Amino acid sequence: MIRRIGILTSGGDCAGLNAVIRAVVHSAHRKGWETIGILDGTAGLLYDPPQVRSLHPNDFDGNVLRQGGTILGTTNRGNPFSFPMPDGSTKDRSGEIVDSFHKLGLDAVVGIGGDGSFAILSKLTKQGGINMVGIPKTIDNDIGQTETSVGFDTAVSVATEALDRLQPTAASHDRVMVLEVMGRDAGHIALNSGIAGGADVILIPEIKYDLQKIAAKIQRVKDSGRNFALVVVSEAIKTETGEKFEMTYHGGERRYGGIGQYIASRIADLTNSETRVTVLGHVQRGSPPTYNDRLLATAFGVKAVELIDQGKFNRMVAWQKRQIVDVAIEDAIAAYQQVDLTDTLVQTARALGICLGDE
Ligand code: F6P
Repeated sequence: MIRRIGILTSGGDCAGLNAVIRAVVHSAHRKGWETIGILDGTAGLLYDPPQVRSLHPNDFDGNVLRQGGTILGTTNRGNPFSFPMPDGSTKDRSGEIVDSFHKLGLDAVVGIGGDGSFAILSKLTKQGGINMVGIPKTIDNDIGQTETSVGFDTAVSVATEALDRLQPTAASHDRVMVLEVMGRDAGHIALNSGIAGGADVILIPEIKYDLQKIAAKIQRVKDSGRNFALVVVSEAIKTETGEKFEMTYHGGERRYGGIGQYIASRIADLTNSETRVTVLGHVQRGSPPTYNDRLLATAFGVKAVELIDQGKFNRMVAWQKRQIVDVAIEDAIAAYQQVDLTDTLVQTARALGICLGDE
């Protein structure tokens, strides 16, 4: 019998996480269950006592639905199976997390995460015999078995709006504007926002580009009498010679970043154009969720509670063919979802004459 469920957000934040939490809390309480929020993802379970807060429907008056970020906090560092220790070594701290789950007396856990978080959570919950249901969230939209994830729609909207804002200034100054967007190793944000925002060139990690082809496209734009061009670059594309562009942050954490500048200078050299670069970064994650993300988050939250009620665990809720369904978490983790080159949107871009770097 279910009495108490724990909720945690894990991995990078995105818009819509609070909407998911709200939906889980409201629908769980309608079944008479208690809900507890675990703070900072699995990091909150490394404390004794575990870092938690109680979650009551009264805390969710509708305001939280609109807020970006996660009221529970999250982390995308510190895999508990090889946790980085202050002396530079790593330690398996999974046992502490499993103990904390048990101390909290949880009958089930709702994990809101991406593929990396699900891999960790599913290993932990199996190790501890804990019932878990996953809800997919990521701006990258790279989780398999679901057509979309919470946060993706908002990130695409932000990137599209950035193109809307770049176009007039590009036209005023006769410039080629390069917009670098996130997405890790999947080009979904670039492809979707590029088409929606009227880009001339969209570069994604799934398609190897040729700078001469990009330069030829910019030249065609100029020859047509247009004085500006918009280029969207996904953060994980490589240089012509195959090097990644990464930044190193505190603690040696490496993240993609900076390839937009490289592409802009190469375009400037090859086409004799004035170029400027905008790196959109975390702006794609922090805004209020779009209505699509609010709906998806809410329906996912309700479905997760329904699965717990039915005793269906190690499942991830998913969006397929206009419906919420559930799939095995292992299958979702195994099916990492990059842009499929036969995808309708790839064909759409090509049919419009948008240069994807290869032709
Ligand atoms: O996975 C989400 C994401 O925003 C990626 O698109 C990006 O590469 C990465 O996280 C940035 O991570 P961080 O928030 O640690 O800088």
